[in-house]
Amino acid sequence: MSRRFHWTTFDLNGRLPAGWQRDIRTVAADADFREFPRTPVLSREAPEVQRISRGRVHADQVRQRLPWLYRAYRGEFLELAGLACAERVKAANDDRYGVVLNVQRGTTMRFECHVDSNPLTGLLFCTDHQAGGELVFAHDATAASVSAVERDCSVIRPRAGHLIFFDARRHPHYARPLAAASDTRIVAVMNFYTESCPESTRPRELNKHLYGDD
Ligand SMILES: [Fe+2]
Repeated sequence: MSRRFHWTTFDLNGRLPAGWQRDIRTVAADADFREFPRTPVLSREAPEVQRISRGRVHADQVRQRLPWLYRAYRGEFLELAGLACAERVKAANDDRYGVVLNVQRGTTMRFECHVDSNPLTGLLFCTDHQAGGELVFAHDATAASVSAVERDCSVIRPRAGHLIFFDARRHPHYARPLAAASDTRIVAVMNFYTESCPESTRPRELNKHLYGDD
């Protein structure tokens, strides 16, 4: 039997810095909003989907404007990640992809259907939603479109202040669009690595695609 998808949740409400949501909203308003081309190797979008509209706050901006989040990624959140994983966990050495914000505004944006290359991902949900914006994980490792993921899936509804950890290397996942045009969804995304799946295994094509590396 293939390993059932599972995740670990920590409720950090009351433990995050005062005004953290306001800070994050301010930075997220300046996100890089555009259509992003599908990601090489990791995309699980249907072939006809070449671009997906969303916003991103890049890692250098997070480091500059949300220093507490950058520090938590290498400190308190890293410790919690260790509790969610049987192996010793490390933060990324490369500051370009350690922690970023993904932002969805209105009903036309969503997050690309993909698999992760890193063995443990942490997400800090920064917003709550009446409907829409759910994170959806396929149970079928071969699901290769949003509709295939939706056929048999686990659904996580964002709760502000909840930090979740999961291994989604074999579980295609995406974030549903929001239901309200006035709504904004913000999530901080963190990559973690282990000894059996170190940072050096990150696909080169991915860095080339995102940062123009050779
Ligand atoms: Fe992911």
